[in-house]
Amino acid sequence: MLHENLLSVIGNTPLVKVKFDCPGQIFAKLEYLNPGGSVKDRSALFMIEEAERKGILKPGGTIIDASSGNQGIAVAMIGKIKGYKVIITVSEKISKEKMDTLRAYGAQLVICPSTEFVTDPQSYHSQAVEIHKNTPNSFMPNQYFNLSNSLAHYTLLGPEIWKQTNGKITHFFAAAGTGGTVSGAGKYLKEQNPQIKVIAFDSVNSFRATNGNPKPYKLEGIGVDFDSPVLNKSIIDEFIGVTDDDSIAMLKTLAQEHGLLVGPSSGAVACGVAQYAKKLKPNDLAVMIFGDSGRAYLTKNFYSVSPENSTLINPVKKVKQTEQSF
Ligand SMILES: Cc1ncc(COP(=O)(O)O)c(C=O)c1O
Repeated sequence: MLHENLLSVIGNTPLVKVKFDCPGQIFAKLEYLNPGGSVKDRSALFMIEEAERKGILKPGGTIIDASSGNQGIAVAMIGKIKGYKVIITVSEKISKEKMDTLRAYGAQLVICPSTEFVTDPQSYHSQAVEIHKNTPNSFMPNQYFNLSNSLAHYTLLGPEIWKQTNGKITHFFAAAGTGGTVSGAGKYLKEQNPQIKVIAFDSVNSFRATNGNPKPYKLEGIGVDFDSPVLNKSIIDEFIGVTDDDSIAMLKTLAQEHGLLVGPSSGAVACGVAQYAKKLKPNDLAVMIFGDSGRAYLTKNFYSVSPENSTLINPVKKVKQTEQSF
């Protein structure tokens, strides 16, 4: 198939079985295979094209958003394909790789202090709102407040999973950040079969998990940091809290025993699924979302990459080569 540009490559990611020691089957939806490297390609494209259709985003305009990295990367990639200027505000806690990726796409980066509350005037969300207010002809997808974020996953991700599993899915597992993925895809799946269990994973230290008394956590992309209207709690059967340490330990297992080099939110999902898995029955078919790749976090040393695993070959004497043209 020939593609006019990268936009039509977004979505249709594979479902791959992950062998956990449990009854039933568990499949990972490899969202890191989207062209921007994460699940956020879907919601960013949906919100940008909706704004274009509504005339809110016009040619020559600027797209501004607050992001834990992936939404920003998706907005930057899509914005550049469509010819917009892109400004992304991020928290200082996101990985160096994500910041460099945003810069590589030519996005303007605004690095904000890591705050406990999204409503803090210093937070990356508040800063994006401020920049948007002061930038003429700008559009802010506003993933934490825009219900089209979850509508994107209701429209694209949910139907895709339903089709790929031939309607046999019994459990849907996803990390909650804005809550768009779990709420949107979860709603679609429950409409097809109300028996499907929708389970959301959250950091044990998040605003939601601590009843408004959050503590710092290392995980990125996961963690309900305020009462976001995008998170539709009525869809979610169960929230499971995961710790930094357990999620990060799972990253190593996924990479070294399953060949899945994934990011911390996927480690958190897999760790939560491993806890839940004893409740599965032999005929159950579970789908878990793996939101992004571990390549975006290598400098965070989550994967215990030790220099002992590398062999340094003594350099051989260099033979002088002349360039040849064929
Ligand atoms: C890698 C990754 N996984 C999961 C999520 C959570 O998705 P949502 O914001 O739809 O809840 C995010 C959000 O940024 C993410 O970047």
